[in-house]
Amino acid sequence: MARIRFPDGFHWGTATASYQIEGAWQEDGKGESIWDRFSHTPGKVRHGATGDVACDSYHRFAEDVALMREMNQTSCRFSIAWPRIQPNGSGAANTKGLDHYRRVVDCLLDAGIRPFPTLYHWDLPQALEDCGGWPERDTAGRFADYAEIVVSALGDRVKNWMIFNEPGVFTLFGYWAGIHAPGRRDLDAFLRASHVVNLAQGEAFRAMRAACSDAVIGTAFSMTACVPARDTAQDQDAAERWHRLANLWFLEPALRGRYPDAFAEEPFERMGIRDGDLALVRAPLDFLGINLYTRTFVEHRESDPLGMGARALFGPVGGKQGPKTDFGWEVWPDAIYDVLIRISSDYGRPIIEITENGCSYLDGPDARGVVRDPRRIDFYRGYLEAVARAIDDGADVRGYHAWTLLDNFEWAEGYEQRFGLVWVDFATGDRTIKESGRWYASVADENGFEA
Ligand code: FCB
Repeated sequence: MARIRFPDGFHWGTATASYQIEGAWQEDGKGESIWDRFSHTPGKVRHGATGDVACDSYHRFAEDVALMREMNQTSCRFSIAWPRIQPNGSGAANTKGLDHYRRVVDCLLDAGIRPFPTLYHWDLPQALEDCGGWPERDTAGRFADYAEIVVSALGDRVKNWMIFNEPGVFTLFGYWAGIHAPGRRDLDAFLRASHVVNLAQGEAFRAMRAACSDAVIGTAFSMTACVPARDTAQDQDAAERWHRLANLWFLEPALRGRYPDAFAEEPFERMGIRDGDLALVRAPLDFLGINLYTRTFVEHRESDPLGMGARALFGPVGGKQGPKTDFGWEVWPDAIYDVLIRISSDYGRPIIEITENGCSYLDGPDARGVVRDPRRIDFYRGYLEAVARAIDDGADVRGYHAWTLLDNFEWAEGYEQRFGLVWVDFATGDRTIKESGRWYASVADENGFEA
């Protein structure tokens, strides 16, 4: 048996998002978000589930922090709900909203846990969507104002921030695929949204720096290992283009002030890019957050709506070779190794935090109330071993955040998927640490494990 070790000072944490756990959707002056509107619209979320109550973490956060402490966590990735701070997406801050997050942060600090907030994990104020949402250029400035408010208010106690969670996912799923809020199905809206989000990332970065000069700022990017479906030059080219769109579309503009070469013909006009914008999208991020679950097979296609010459083979997510989670996603630990090595070598060994990685299995409490979920332990063993290997091979990874602390509202899937290290009984809100949570606690405590 070999011992898997992580560098001294490595951060062990879990990740959550406001809409998925907080509930209290109308409390303390909070405005409506696009996810409130979407989940309240019949037919959008499985079984009509909503985040109105979710895990009730808005009220039970002290209990959640106590669980993190019991699990030896040293970092807590959570997100701040924009409509709690600016109910309509602009104007003066709602003090009660800021006070709530001050209490959360203080509770974490008292427990010796690093607060690691994301400013935007998908809950846009509905009022801004009513004015055009992310495809509308003004939204970038609105977002920078919000970022400034939050960092000015919390910057005395929070040092490490993420601007966005998975910009690639919320623009694509929200504006083109229509399966997430706001549920639009419009390719041009997606293209414009992607550019406005890049502008917002640059503007927010500068506003945050100005508000707090020693803020450490990144974004949590969704990433996947892009694999050619067949061993042909055309599929290899297609996979490379997909890598640039899926993994680099919000990274390359920030770090290098340009869009990666993903399309045969760049859709710059359709994206609404103006002269001078490529300077505005720049944001010299202090670290890169990587969210990764599995890999993606890509094949060449003669024609496709984006003019990429590529098509990702979805469903099930990932390939067919590895075991599947209960969500049908392929378990493929090498995906995280490959992406870490690729990003490290292409971007000069940036500081990386794994900001999400995890799996949905439905195992519930047995007669004695114990949640035995050995497949989740196997999942984490595999992926953590791959992260450790990437670190040995040169990737500068500083922390790992399991998705997620609690079973929670899994977007369009409602409560039908369970990604938590902690079981939640949604009728009562009761929480039970799963066996995987106990195992993860020992990894955090020992900064490693026996392979
Ligand atoms: C990611 C999201 C996160 C969660 C996991 C399963 O794409 O960032 O909120 O839903 O997937």
